[in-house]
Amino acid sequence: MPSNFSKPRAFAVPFKFATAGMFAVGVLALAVAAQPAFAQDMSAGARIFLEKGQCNQCHGKNGDGVGDDPREHGANFGESGLDKETMMMIISCGVPGTNMPYFDKFSYTDDRCYGMTGAQEGANKPQPPLTEFLAKRDIEVVADYIQQTFVGKGPVKPGAAAPADATPPEPQH
Ligand code: HEC
Repeated sequence: MPSNFSKPRAFAVPFKFATAGMFAVGVLALAVAAQPAFAQDMSAGARIFLEKGQCNQCHGKNGDGVGDDPREHGANFGESGLDKETMMMIISCGVPGTNMPYFDKFSYTDDRCYGMTGAQEGANKPQPPLTEFLAKRDIEVVADYIQQTFVGKGPVKPGAAAPADATPPEPQH
């Protein structure tokens, strides 16, 4: 075997890794560049709370239960004694007979929620989301967000400032 034959092979592996690494960095840079300026400052949970699920329309972006949509209201999360699992169940199933929507599209296809089918709930069946159904993972992420941001900190005073990561900074000029 000619001695120079092994040289390119020795270089081949690190080169492959370098390319994959550069590709990943490139994709990341593209993804960051594609976000609107303020979205970069929002956590994944805040993004679901404010954008994907629009929970703030009823709960307020500060979690005080005064809806950002003035016609709506929700629970004041600072007063909530619910744990994460119970919150995930409520977000999935909604609260029958109230405005709290169900965010899991499979809820009420059978009796997984409160032992009741959609037909059994009748007029009390919660409404579907204002925007879109959420994947299980998103339901967990937004429940974590509510737990970490609001729960156990005492009732949120109506009109209190929103958490830093839910506050879009002033547009830069
Ligand atoms: C259309 C209005 C509306 C929207 C949108 C909404 N909620 Fe609610 N939510 C309510 C209302 C009203 C209640 C209180 C129901 C009751 O009286 O028990 C509630 C209750 C809750 C509770 C139970 C809190 C407690 O301590 O009892 C959780 C958790 C919750 N919502 C999470 C969410 C999340 C997360 C989203 C977005 C993905 C969301 N909600 C979107 C209206 C809404």
